[in-house]
Amino acid sequence: MDVYILAIESSCDETSMAIVKNGKEIIGLSIATQIDTHALYGGVVPEIASRMHTEAITLVLEDVLKKAKMKIEDMQAIAVTYAPGLTGSLMVGIEAAKTLALIYHKPLIAVNHLIGHIFANNIEDKMEYPMISLIVSGGHTELLIMEDDYTFKKLGETLDDAIGECYDKVARVVGLKYPGGPNVEKLAKEGKHTYNLPQPVLDDTYNFSYSGLKSAIINLVHNETQRGREINKADLARSFQDVAIDELVRKVDKAFRETNIKRLVVAGGVSANNYLKEEMQKLCDKYGAKLLIPRLLYCTDNAAMIGAAAYPLYLKGEFADFSLNASSNGDLC
Ligand code: KG4
Ligand code: ZN
Repeated sequence: MDVYILAIESSCDETSMAIVKNGKEIIGLSIATQIDTHALYGGVVPEIASRMHTEAITLVLEDVLKKAKMKIEDMQAIAVTYAPGLTGSLMVGIEAAKTLALIYHKPLIAVNHLIGHIFANNIEDKMEYPMISLIVSGGHTELLIMEDDYTFKKLGETLDDAIGECYDKVARVVGLKYPGGPNVEKLAKEGKHTYNLPQPVLDDTYNFSYSGLKSAIINLVHNETQRGREINKADLARSFQDVAIDELVRKVDKAFRETNIKRLVVAGGVSANNYLKEEMQKLCDKYGAKLLIPRLLYCTDNAAMIGAAAYPLYLKGEFADFSLNASSNGDLC
């Protein structure tokens, strides 16, 4: 029997719902983004985010059902992101999911947002195990080994800032709009690596650190401005991007060397970055490994990936009850 899951995602600043068939086929996808509103403030304002999710959620439901030409009765389950994310934002999606599950007598599936990002790779490709997973988002930078769908072994993670957060901060200090990632990437294409920025030195571990790089850029801009000197923004963006991505490359290189695993998946918003894609492809070529990175639409927050991640849980009968609550902590292992 085909399994249709209605998936809901509201962990940050996108209200999204998808209807996903058998964990792979996207029958309908609706995404309402709040980016323009948060851009006015230079970053996500949690209180505004939850209010906007509340306003959007029923419209998004209506839209996804219309796109899929299906009814809630046709679903086998309702899946929702419960962690990690902004508590108030998560709660809007969770309450919607619980209400639908209760009224339509459907099982409820609780999905971790980061696992959702990983499963975005299973929509148009097929994930095979064991594999190395690199999560690079606004809130997380983690390197894991996955032995199967839901078995994780953490190799390392950031000790301070996430790489996406660092992109957003760099964007802010050079006067680019939120979300910074795509704008810094665009500007970096026009620049040269001329600024000497500190490379994080945690070479003997799989951990990452981005706060030193972030502070170096803030100080550099501050000092140059105080001296009345112009910053070459494109060169700074390029210098930052080279160092930030190189750090990911070095850690994934170490993982290939030490684990002998021949598969890499990259997940999370920063995987939309073309320079990252090129560098990871070169690395995979060096080790004869297969690289999976989702198509742009599935790189950033969306509910299709939540439906994809919910499918193995549905097959295992791992359902949540109505005490399900939001959690800001999304540790995978
Ligand atoms: O996964 P995501 O959509 O939300 C979280 O789960 O955090 O990731 C958002 C992050 C933001 O920091 C954004 O600046 C970054 O992903 N990002 C990028 C690019 N597109 C989005 N960073 C670098 N290059 C990009 N093209
Ligand atoms: Zn995300």
